[in-house]
Amino acid sequence: MAIRPVLRLGDQRLFELAIEVENFNTPELDSLIEDMFDTMEAEDGAGLAAPQIGVGLRVAIFGFDTNPRYPESNPIPKTVLINPEIKPLGDDKEEDWEGCLSVPGMRGVVSRFTHIHYTGFDASGNPVDVNAEGFHARVVQHECDHLDGIIYTQRLSNPLKFGFTEELLSAGQLNTTECPE
Ligand code: NI
Repeated sequence: MAIRPVLRLGDQRLFELAIEVENFNTPELDSLIEDMFDTMEAEDGAGLAAPQIGVGLRVAIFGFDTNPRYPESNPIPKTVLINPEIKPLGDDKEEDWEGCLSVPGMRGVVSRFTHIHYTGFDASGNPVDVNAEGFHARVVQHECDHLDGIIYTQRLSNPLKFGFTEELLSAGQLNTTECPE
């Protein structure tokens, strides 16, 4: 197990399309996922995608039991999601603040589907099939974007609703309880 450095915005690897995992239940995949959890937890993240640690595979993780940084968010079950597909359930979208471990110390408002259905596989190749809403749905959409080389800064609803967390807090734009990275 190891905490790996998280690539930051500007590193061109973050913009690459990740490729599908073909072999499940391998020591390499298990150790990648273990490193991803170690890294996400060390950074108090809500999720992490493999490309963020420089591995161009379609592997995302997310979830936490309780996280002091988002006390008002319902816990999201710890999930490994490989080769995911997302389908929106309905057209409803909502705007909210997002952050990203690859864009540390900043937040921006992004519009995401409110209700989604996502499928994929866990590390052993068992199917994952979940309906999610709200913050859970937002995190999944954010992490899956990473697999397509998309960072939330490319999806800002309004460039004026983007900036450094501290300044946004001082300006009363952001509450401390809405700071997922
Ligand atoms: Ni991110």
